[in-house]
Amino acid sequence: MSKFIDIDFTNCLAENIGKASGLSPEQLNQAAGNAEEAFTSVQQQLGSDWLRWSQLPQQIETAEKCSDLWKQRAESFDNFVVIGIGGSALGPTALKSALCHPFHNELPAAKRSGARFYVLDNVDPGRCSALLGMLDLSRTLFNVITKSGSTAETASQFLVARRAVEEAVGKSWPDHFIFTTDGEKGDLRILAGKEKIASLEVPDGVGGRFSVLSAVGLLPAAALGINTKELLAGAAEMQAGCQSSDWQKNPALALATILWLLDTKKEKHIHVMMPYSNALADFADWYKQLWAESLGKNLTLDGKTCSVGPTPVKALGATDQHSQVQLYVEGPADKVIIFISAGMPESELLIPRDYSDMAAFGYLGGRGIGELLEAERRGTEVALSEHGRPNMTISMDKIDAGTVGGLIFLWEMATAYAGVLYSVDAFNQPGVEAGKIAAFALFGRDGFEEERKRIEDSLGQQNRRTVC
Ligand code: PA5
Repeated sequence: MSKFIDIDFTNCLAENIGKASGLSPEQLNQAAGNAEEAFTSVQQQLGSDWLRWSQLPQQIETAEKCSDLWKQRAESFDNFVVIGIGGSALGPTALKSALCHPFHNELPAAKRSGARFYVLDNVDPGRCSALLGMLDLSRTLFNVITKSGSTAETASQFLVARRAVEEAVGKSWPDHFIFTTDGEKGDLRILAGKEKIASLEVPDGVGGRFSVLSAVGLLPAAALGINTKELLAGAAEMQAGCQSSDWQKNPALALATILWLLDTKKEKHIHVMMPYSNALADFADWYKQLWAESLGKNLTLDGKTCSVGPTPVKALGATDQHSQVQLYVEGPADKVIIFISAGMPESELLIPRDYSDMAAFGYLGGRGIGELLEAERRGTEVALSEHGRPNMTISMDKIDAGTVGGLIFLWEMATAYAGVLYSVDAFNQPGVEAGKIAAFALFGRDGFEEERKRIEDSLGQQNRRTVC
């Protein structure tokens, strides 16, 4: 296992949580062959086609380029706005939450590690106009991130922001934008050339949900003052730790194998990621996209129809102990809980020894808030295990750029292995593309007339059933 992250899957085993939901030694032994095949298959593809994201930890020059680009602009801008959706938004957001002060935007400039940071992903008119109305646009840089260069949510909000910036600053509006998009294809790439807008590349073979360690995540990270080289170094260290075909010696292969077994042999179709750390709550959102879009497929690798894919869910400890854990402990036995324990904070917050003669307060005094959080995680782990509910704990020494880089790469590799175990293409997203095409058609985009007619005909044949 890696030096700074380990995975404890004791509570996924039959000997600890019972045969009904736990994995038996025989099941684990049998799966060793599947794991080895998954490792070999991924190993053969690494660095090529849609697995080119696996080379990102080595691309230090991209980190340097992003830092230089931001340094040239840092003096001119106080606000950094990402316009993007899916991987283009979830990756940068996860980095910001994990590695910046929890109230980063509220800090005065002298105490902030970088620019104030905002994301426009969903096309919510109220949110978009509120943000543009609030910011001093003369001090705002927009990073428009889209691999395809044509996603409607991103394209539309770019147009709105561009017009607002032009109205605020006039002809210098292009200086307020940096595009991160495909190196050659797409209308955003064309526009970068036409309007002389600075741009970065989403490299070939790097899909949205695997792009956080490319310029997609690295420019926002640089603007936030995150140590991007450390981020890549942590990912590279995890990569070095994932070189064995023996799942017991490869953390990403272990993660993929155990979760796949629990889904396919024990009907644990719901994979709940539950970090006990607010800093990692948005990481769980990033995981949800990675796991859902990569593994939720209806075609096997050899072209047969299937319907597979675990459902990823996000929860936050200890908050969701008071919301979700009742369901996880006593509800349907269809879940595995993946705790993330982030170690003790560098500066523990001590609970004062006040009202120590009162039962509700006395036992808390003199202990740490971080210590309490970990005790709560252990408590939930015990409750789940005693009810025969599988759970595992990913422990990180601490949360810093290196460990977060490692955690990202761990899940990206696990996803690649899981794709082979489920026998699906983990790197396409035909379901997402189908929705994009239908939206283009319904909104009247040129070239989608036939699709529009097909949808309208099909909708026209439906009897609408409504209740009010
Ligand atoms: O993982 C993916 O490729 C997708 O979910 C994309 O991140 C999302 O659809 C946005 O696409 P684009 O980057 O082309 O705007």
